[in-house]
Amino acid sequence: MFDAPLKLPLRLQRLRRTPALRALIRETVLDKNDLILPLFIKSGENICQPITSMPGCCQLSVDRLDEEIDSIVKSGLLGVILFGIPDKKDPHGEVSCHDDGVVQQAIRCIKAIAPQLLVIADVCLCEYTDHGHCGVLSDESGIDNDATLSILAEQSESLAHAGADIIAPSGMMDGMVVAIREGLDKAGFTHIPILSYAVKYASALYGPFREAAEGAPQFGDRRGYQMDPANGAEALREAKLDVEEGADMLMVKPAGIYADVIYRVKQAFPGIPLAAYQVSGEYAMLKAAAANGWINERAAVMESLLSLKRAGADFIITYYAKTVADWLKEQV
Ligand code: PBG
Ligand code: ZN
Repeated sequence: MFDAPLKLPLRLQRLRRTPALRALIRETVLDKNDLILPLFIKSGENICQPITSMPGCCQLSVDRLDEEIDSIVKSGLLGVILFGIPDKKDPHGEVSCHDDGVVQQAIRCIKAIAPQLLVIADVCLCEYTDHGHCGVLSDESGIDNDATLSILAEQSESLAHAGADIIAPSGMMDGMVVAIREGLDKAGFTHIPILSYAVKYASALYGPFREAAEGAPQFGDRRGYQMDPANGAEALREAKLDVEEGADMLMVKPAGIYADVIYRVKQAFPGIPLAAYQVSGEYAMLKAAAANGWINERAAVMESLLSLKRAGADFIITYYAKTVADWLKEQV
């Protein structure tokens, strides 16, 4: 910019001198309204089963939800996203479409206790299929993308019927957004938005979630349908397609090590609300380092979330949501 040597030394530190000056020029803030908490709903009774690799998180049965929902409401969070762990699995994940399925029951229970709390329903088959893949299998033991779409539409309709406020398909099936949109519209749920996991990578950071949701693939991996971590430009194709198919909101997942992707998607689609999912492995890494005293947990967590907003995320799904909402309250 300047060819000639500067006469005055630039002193950027002038604006960093006091907390008030730093607050005055701060570009990004983290708010409790930015945070969504995932919950694992297990079929059965009186279950509050801690998840070893995710300290502080547990699988809850529907009858144990009320206490958790009370504390979520007290923390001031806007919403939760639900994952179900059914007692029976089958090749087609049929139970995910049942009116009395575990997530459907959980939604009704939450809506009875806290009707204003946003309930996002994750839509996928991997928790419900006996083989653990996100779609039904085809003969060549690949995934039958198109046969999966009608089940996802049926599952979505059932979740909307139970009272879900937002439908969030996570299976990375091609055409899932339009299939679900058409299904919802036909069933009279034209007012229910779709949050598409548009950009979901085949990541090593989902390990703890697979313990939590009991949905690990029984053979192979998910690289045939989730994105290759090597690709960035392809994320924009995924996002564009989902927007064209009618997605109301997009998601990038995982979050922290894909901040460049969050940035690119937000730049390309500034008008589409963008979520980032700080996944189980990101949570587990922070927890493990904190437990060893190697990082300051609170500082590291706040920095990780603030960075996602700086990159372009409008809201963040994180297992830290409630903790952070409580921390933010203390600050005031
Ligand atoms: C499954 C699903 C996964 C997560 C959310 N939905 C795991 C996977 O694809 O194997 C991961 C969430 C996390 O790790 O916190 N459709
Ligand atoms: Zn899945």
